[in-house]
Amino acid sequence: MFNNDQLDQWDRENFFHPSTHLAQHTRGESPNRIVTGGSGVFIEDSDGNRLLDAFAGLYCVNVGYGRQEIAEAISAQAKKLAYYHAYVGHGTEASITLAKMILDRAPKNMSKVYFGLGGSDANETIIKLAWFYNNILRRPERKKITSRWRGYHGSGLVTGSLTGLEVFHKKFDLPLERILHTEAPYYFRRPELSMSEAEFVVYCANELEKLIEREGADTIAAFIGEPVLGTGGIVPPPSGYWEAIQKVLKKHEILLIADEVVTGFGRLGTMFGSEHYAIEPDFITIAKGLTSAYAPLSGSIISERVWRVLEQGTDEFGPIGHGWTYSAHPIGAAAGIANLELVDSLSLVQNARETGAYLNETMKQALGGHRHVGEVRGEGLLCAIEFVEDRETRTYFDPAKKTGPRTAAALLKLGVIARAMPQGDILGFAPPLCLTRAEADTVVEKTKEAVDETFAVG
Ligand SMILES: Cc1ncc(COP(=O)(O)O)c(C=O)c1O
Repeated sequence: MFNNDQLDQWDRENFFHPSTHLAQHTRGESPNRIVTGGSGVFIEDSDGNRLLDAFAGLYCVNVGYGRQEIAEAISAQAKKLAYYHAYVGHGTEASITLAKMILDRAPKNMSKVYFGLGGSDANETIIKLAWFYNNILRRPERKKITSRWRGYHGSGLVTGSLTGLEVFHKKFDLPLERILHTEAPYYFRRPELSMSEAEFVVYCANELEKLIEREGADTIAAFIGEPVLGTGGIVPPPSGYWEAIQKVLKKHEILLIADEVVTGFGRLGTMFGSEHYAIEPDFITIAKGLTSAYAPLSGSIISERVWRVLEQGTDEFGPIGHGWTYSAHPIGAAAGIANLELVDSLSLVQNARETGAYLNETMKQALGGHRHVGEVRGEGLLCAIEFVEDRETRTYFDPAKKTGPRTAAALLKLGVIARAMPQGDILGFAPPLCLTRAEADTVVEKTKEAVDETFAVG
């Protein structure tokens, strides 16, 4: 057994945590949590708490915690062959099988999958490929990438630049050159309250057109977007958004990257978000739900049209100079196979659709009319509550009041984990896809209690 005090001390002395206030953590001023176990939608910590994880870790433990089938698949793979690389045509039974399983589930025009380790590197791979593609086609000036404000695509150098959230740029000298941002499809935060949803869609498409005109279409390689904005606020797009955006991109021959790191493998109640919104991407990136985070693995999926050009490129320039030691790691691949089998056998895509609709509906009923709730929104098993000071005028709270984080903290005390999203007072939910109706009821009841408590004290 570990001693909690000892672990706490080692943690604060040695461990650099991501997305953490470094000084407060080291000084012991902020709470930490040592997570010791998990089962279904619950985790346990070293203080003996059992918490309903309504954010599935970081929207990734889609099949829920403690699935022995995946643990056994990982164990069997580690015993048989823990590692071999994937360079110069090498593969393993697991990596080849998983590639086939992914392509069987992906939109029809997709052709090949490259394996990495996380969502950030999956996007990084695609950006390199978009540049490579244009160099092969003798369009070397087409290198800029358009992302959206409030998009989240990772926190590397290029992917942190693509991410359109202030905290990921501040003091890191990001975004890098070549990375552009356009309007987010965030109807609640539309520039004019009087705008209809249809008018807002036209506005978003026009903003993109203006940016393309300003920069020059022949300098832009690709547009990247999440089917539903995730970390930027959990915001489903207004109806017609993707159709309008794709029209603009097609007209200017700009490649489309669908970042499905959150939405891939069922989160929206369809296997992919592209299917949900009739998006026809040139590339799709996947990670989280691919293994339900039982092992690190991501994928960059390439469409047939782009693949043919990449092949032509290697005929001309030789083997592609891209790869990592751990690309297509067999342990990740074994986890992925067992995970996708569970997604199918437990009908989790269907459950995300049905229980997701139930969660969103009951959350709306419980909190939609609250004087400080501007909007309850969601799609599939994604749900968010956006708080405002005044509903009529859509006045936001002073960020210094930390309304979102205080609500998340109150909810945590009631035994439910939700996430205070990083920009705005938004409480986000993305539970495991195995959530039951009874668990959804608990999430809603406790959230209502937490919201009432937060606003009762101001
Ligand atoms: C849509 C999206 N893309 C990319 C990433 C980055 O993935 P990772 O944290 O595995 O690098 C995330 C992470 O939350 C994400 O939500």
